[in-house]
Amino acid sequence: MTELPIRSVVTGGAGFIGSHLVEYLLHRGDEVVVIDDLSTGSMANLAGVVAHPRFGFVEASILDRAAVLGEIDGADRVFHLAAAVGVRRIIEQPLDSLRTNIHGSENVLDACLAADASLLLASTSEIYGKNTSDALHEDSDRILGSPLKSRWTYAAAKGIDESFAHAYHLEHGLRVGMVRLFNTVGPRQTGRYGMVVPNLVGQALRGDPITVFGDGLQTRCFSYVGDIVPALVAIAERPEAYGQVFNLGGAEEVSILELAERIVARLGSTSEIMLVPYEQAYGPGYEDMRRRVPDNTRSGSLVGFVPRTSIDAIIDAVAEDLRTRTESPVPV
Ligand SMILES: NC(=O)c1ccc[n+]([C@@H]2O[C@H](COP(=O)([O-])OP(=O)(O)OC[C@H]3O[C@@H](n4cnc5c(N)ncnc54)[C@H](O)[C@@H]3O)[C@@H](O)[C@H]2O)c1
Repeated sequence: MTELPIRSVVTGGAGFIGSHLVEYLLHRGDEVVVIDDLSTGSMANLAGVVAHPRFGFVEASILDRAAVLGEIDGADRVFHLAAAVGVRRIIEQPLDSLRTNIHGSENVLDACLAADASLLLASTSEIYGKNTSDALHEDSDRILGSPLKSRWTYAAAKGIDESFAHAYHLEHGLRVGMVRLFNTVGPRQTGRYGMVVPNLVGQALRGDPITVFGDGLQTRCFSYVGDIVPALVAIAERPEAYGQVFNLGGAEEVSILELAERIVARLGSTSEIMLVPYEQAYGPGYEDMRRRVPDNTRSGSLVGFVPRTSIDAIIDAVAEDLRTRTESPVPV
């Protein structure tokens, strides 16, 4: 008797990470349904899979409770990636972002419980806020700014998502694992909502000034989407992950100024690097984190996660993607 394929639902599957995850799941033999409202994602991201016989797409918001319950009914597992993402979007649409990231996630959790589906919830390193420790581990303290600063509401909402998921696990036995992603980058990420790598690479390709916010000495550890996606699936498949959270981040700490310099050198760009005060970029009172370095020990131990792709290789892949994108060759 032939085995039936695993039925996976990916919320946010038309987005940057989601579309790579969809391709990976189809390749592994899953039947995949995407729920996405196309607010920051696009069908162009799914161009390679729309005709696939095991692929389905539903244009709906995760705030549409009936749609979420209906589509997840009958699923074996759900990857919940739909979210209002990107500093610019959070600041410009704080209410919509809060609703999507809290009420939308609650709908997904309820639907998974009703369908007896397992769930992997995408959370974020923003959870740690201004904690600048050498290596943030999953139990590290969170240091967030005022809840009245919209910038922190993304971290606040994702924190509530994690607490909700954990409570569903404790009280109802929901099979849910969580991951905190640290600046995942790669092809198909758009710079429109304030994502730094596609923004800077796009500026370098056009020969525009490369805008680095603040003094540029804030550091990040960028990870490549191709390293992250297999880890998402591996964690989702491990029962030991239920009720737990796992960091997934890059290995190389780099300041944004250094990143800009490497982009210019790597791409042979004529662009100048320009420091832009945060207030000019995001309005008065904007706060950033100086440093964000992951401790990947837990995900390494469970599923052997190792971030392998170098920053130079990431720059090359993003540049190649921006050069060849059909709908908008070099997005601003
Ligand atoms: N890229 C990163 O560096 C990063 C870091 C930390 C966490 N994450 C998390 O990973 C997930 C995917 O992020 P991404 O970088 O691929 O961003 P993305 O914006 O490309 O993907 C989000 C997707 O969710 C969809 N969406 C938004 N609101 C929705 C709604 N109400 N209903 C249905 N769909 C909706 C968007 O259209 C988009 O396709 C998010 O949950 C995000 O918080 C990403």
